[in-house]
Amino acid sequence: MSEPIVVWHEQAVTRADREKLSGHRGAVVWFTGLSGSGKSTIANAVDAKLHAAGVRTYVLDGDNFRHGIAATPQALADQYGEEFGKRFGLGFAPEDRVENMRRVSEVAKLMVDAGVVVLTAFVSPYRSERDMARRTLGGGAADKGDFFEVFVDTPLEVCEQRDPKGLYKKARAGEIKHFTGISDPYEPPLAPELTLAGGQTSVDELSREVIDALRRHGVVS
Ligand code: PPS
Repeated sequence: MSEPIVVWHEQAVTRADREKLSGHRGAVVWFTGLSGSGKSTIANAVDAKLHAAGVRTYVLDGDNFRHGIAATPQALADQYGEEFGKRFGLGFAPEDRVENMRRVSEVAKLMVDAGVVVLTAFVSPYRSERDMARRTLGGGAADKGDFFEVFVDTPLEVCEQRDPKGLYKKARAGEIKHFTGISDPYEPPLAPELTLAGGQTSVDELSREVIDALRRHGVVS
């Protein structure tokens, strides 16, 4: 069987046109960290501050993404049938997480092309998948790429004590398989653009740290 032929179609309105209209460049601020580390909360605080300052932003959140583009096998089975769910649904096995990150990176890339500062909040536990995202987005901010990795470095003990969804308790009881930090690894970034000491500082302070770093790297002015 021959390969389908698909050719990239240049659009009439370019990324540069859209960035000019936005008044800032597009970029991806990639938050990574354990479940309960504060990724979504900090991303939303950054979102609110940048939005108030006139920056076009959008949060891609792990839980929300898994309600649609990366829906679970069961959710897709309920909607489109068993076979469809099996084929396209994603869980938390390593290969599913990698495919999840591939989808996130590609969606984020399109949003960057639209001139948006995208704030992604996913556990994204494996270095290889974050490196894949970095490559998809043309490298780190220092290399004039679109990828800005923020490690939300909150100790496992703190995340487990917070346990906002009761998942750590279930994972310890063996009711959830492949749970990051308990029965699946979390590989901390080796050279993130920014590390946040989660669990020690207020969300307001941490979100300011992110925005200051984005300014220093010329992501926003
Ligand atoms: S990943 O690894 O990046 O694909 O994960 P992500 O899409 O960010 O989804 C993480 C949220 O799903 C819940 N959850 C789990 N997390 C980790 N491991 C396992 N096995 C798991 N099962 C469910 C959990 O609530 C995560 O939400 P956050 O907001 O990170 O706490």
